[in-house]
Amino acid sequence: MSDNSILLEQGREQVRSLPLAALEREGIFIDRLNDNPEAPRHFIAFGDWHALEVKEIFANLDPVTMKRTMVYLDFPYCKRVCNFCAFYPVVARGGDEMVRYFGGMEREIDLLADVYFSQNAAIEGVELGGGTPTVTPLPLLKSVVDRVFERFPVDAGDEHSFEATPDSIVDAEGFEKLRYLRERGFSRISMGIQSFNDAVLQSMNRSHASNHIEPAVENIRKLGYGRINFDILVGTPNQPVVDFLESITRSIDLGIEVLELYAMRYFDTRKHVPAARKVLKGAEYSNAEDILAARIAADTMLRKAGYTSCNGRTYQRDGQSYFSNYFLENFKGSNLLGIGRKSHSNLYPFQYANYLNIEKYLSHLEDAKLPIGAGCRFDARARLGKLLTGALQLPGDIDLPALKGLVAASHVSDFDDVFVKFASLGLLERKPEDVYGQTFFGFLFVEEMMKVVFEKCVKPFTANAAFLGKEQVGRLPAAAVAP
Ligand SMILES: C[S@@+](CC[C@H](N)C(=O)[O-])C[C@H]1O[C@@H](n2cnc3c(N)ncnc32)[C@H](O)[C@@H]1O
Ligand code: SF4
Repeated sequence: MSDNSILLEQGREQVRSLPLAALEREGIFIDRLNDNPEAPRHFIAFGDWHALEVKEIFANLDPVTMKRTMVYLDFPYCKRVCNFCAFYPVVARGGDEMVRYFGGMEREIDLLADVYFSQNAAIEGVELGGGTPTVTPLPLLKSVVDRVFERFPVDAGDEHSFEATPDSIVDAEGFEKLRYLRERGFSRISMGIQSFNDAVLQSMNRSHASNHIEPAVENIRKLGYGRINFDILVGTPNQPVVDFLESITRSIDLGIEVLELYAMRYFDTRKHVPAARKVLKGAEYSNAEDILAARIAADTMLRKAGYTSCNGRTYQRDGQSYFSNYFLENFKGSNLLGIGRKSHSNLYPFQYANYLNIEKYLSHLEDAKLPIGAGCRFDARARLGKLLTGALQLPGDIDLPALKGLVAASHVSDFDDVFVKFASLGLLERKPEDVYGQTFFGFLFVEEMMKVVFEKCVKPFTANAAFLGKEQVGRLPAAAVAP
């Protein structure tokens, strides 16, 4: 038996000893059919969203959070569409389509420079996500990124980060993109490697093969980037869970600074219903217990190799205080300004999303209007919910009274019961004066705790907001549903 298979067996034993049934009775369970892999990190359910007037937002912003803003730019395009992807990718055809899209983004940047940065807002960092920013042809990439650095008050010393696939940064043009972004001040790169196994990569329809990964890392290191983040997936169709552990071993051996572990979620954010089409007939699925066992085994391996984590899914090597400045700011409750189709913004006291449809997005910009689809104003409860879900993902204890002190306490007493419940289930440790510490059991269920907190924030919590709810569970094969 390999070391990883032994660790997996030990993980299975630990899973058998966990009080999962007690959790489920309280409605806390990993719901791989309904959960969006990213949503809980950024925003609260769509339940209360409605059309928002641009004027209303930008005339009523909180001047304090405005001083700490993370800027996110959405690059929709990818070489291919991976069959697990939850991020609305668009296949890159080049030519006019991309020229039009990035031209629209530049107009959006100009409008935001006028309505937001004219109010003395300050930036903590820039993040390029998507999609895959590094499939953008170099002239278009330069044009849009230069526009951000020219029109917004960006400091080259902050941590700026972008996403890439390994194949998009190994050829000569890819290397030039890396060089350009490094010269622009980017210091962190998040690369979706998913697996080191070619059969698994092929069955995901990835654009890269395993032999792209090391040359990509060499290129990144050559240019002096500070941190590399690998995304690694577990639970995709026909992927043995031990493959996930092998990929982590290889990543540790390459000295990768940050490992982000994703468990496959079948949610389709487009329709706010589970992505039935992603459940392939005849495919083998790992069961929920195995995925949990693999996560426990991964945790053992990573801690032994000197990595730490406090959010149940992202590990940084010792010596780093946190895995990403972008998420650090997001979880502390700073502002997030999204640019591009489908991007989300948290500009306190508002949160909103841009149109997902590229034509709709562009048509608003052609009329010199910001392409904001819908959103809502945060009330005290939602603001506290955002701070609490952030605190669940940050290192250190959660000081409930201190966080409540930041908002009007009369609206927020119902969170007390939620935290008492978490402690009674062993998900957190209750300390004197309503301060809560992390436990290993809770570490495995951070996102599920976040959902319970979010459910307290949205009134009424309707079936239309099902992306954090349970309405759709049970429609698909049991093996695809985690506990
Ligand atoms: C925006 S994508 C990554 C950037 C880049 N396009 C790539 O694929 O390398 C972020 C990560 O989310 C994860 N992911 C995508 N869809 C997912 C899903 N349905 N369930 C769980 N994780 C998912 C993948 O690991 C992916 O690398
Ligand atoms: S490359 Fe990344 S964004 Fe594009 S389809 Fe694959 S996972 Fe989604």
